[in-house]
Amino acid sequence: MMDYSRQYQHFQHLVENALSEYLPLTREDWPEDGIPKHLSEAMRYSLLSGGKRIRPVLLLAAFQAVNADVKPALPFAVALECIHCYSLIHDDLPAMDDDDLRRGQPTNHKVFGEAMAILAGDALLNFAFELMASCSLPGTLNAMREVSKYSGSSGMIAGQTADIHMAGEQVTPEKVAYIHRHKTADLITAAVVAGLILGGADARMITHGKDYAFHLGLAFQITDDLLDLEGEQAVTGKAGQRDAQLGKLTWPAAVGIEKAREDAQKAIDRALAAAEHLGQSAGFFKALALSIPKRVK
Ligand code: IPE
Ligand code: IPE
Ligand code: MG
Ligand code: MG
Ligand code: MG
Repeated sequence: MMDYSRQYQHFQHLVENALSEYLPLTREDWPEDGIPKHLSEAMRYSLLSGGKRIRPVLLLAAFQAVNADVKPALPFAVALECIHCYSLIHDDLPAMDDDDLRRGQPTNHKVFGEAMAILAGDALLNFAFELMASCSLPGTLNAMREVSKYSGSSGMIAGQTADIHMAGEQVTPEKVAYIHRHKTADLITAAVVAGLILGGADARMITHGKDYAFHLGLAFQITDDLLDLEGEQAVTGKAGQRDAQLGKLTWPAAVGIEKAREDAQKAIDRALAAAEHLGQSAGFFKALALSIPKRVK
């Protein structure tokens, strides 16, 4: 058994290789049957700019809960990262969070302009579905339905809608819980559920997987809110104090910094209990959960 950080790096490495393999750079400006060069550059700029790759890693780990070889699940893992990446490009746009820095680099629209950033996001979202549909595992259609639901208008986009719509309102824990569940925990849940379905897990394990991912996602976003307040730009790669400037409803704004830390830890305890039931990946899932409140980026 590989230890946790070697296993994470191994998954990350598989994902990095698959990302650049599946989305090669276009050399011609306007290929008859391919991605225009300008678009391919804008897509690759954000897709290949690092990032923790936590969603594809979760998908591979979930697949591994019941399978030895994760390779057949790679197109799906890359698809999850494409959906995440599109959501970040759009999240940073002037009409949304108006951010200039992401992963220590200028945001997509700062480099390619707003129109290209919108189009690169659109293209990554469609590419994700092309990749998922190319998968030949028995659970493919089912897993795609779950990913569509969790990333769509009653999932991640519902969360982004609430995040934008509620900005400036009186903050309550209920409102922030809605935002966190949808804007962040839903895509994390999609990754775990899709990995389990593709791997052939039974309904009971999928229920525990959802429970794990929901609590992990909650702790993940509470920590993101805390990092916006207290993190170092040189480490997070994002400008700090943006949430307060934008009037965002965050967990620390609702309950205070100390209680936010406690709540993140409580969510992790719930995730640890659920991870017990996740087969061969139980140990990996637990170690990953324990790393979330300690993350610095
Ligand atoms: C940032 O996600 C957006 C949130 C949902 C908090 P990540 O923290 O996973 O960002 P990268 O991909 O590692 O840069
Ligand atoms: C973004 O949340 C969530 C999605 C992109 C779906 P945030 O706006 O808090 O993420 P950061 O802080 O910009 O990474
Ligand atoms: Mg946002
Ligand atoms: Mg943002
Ligand atoms: Mg944030």
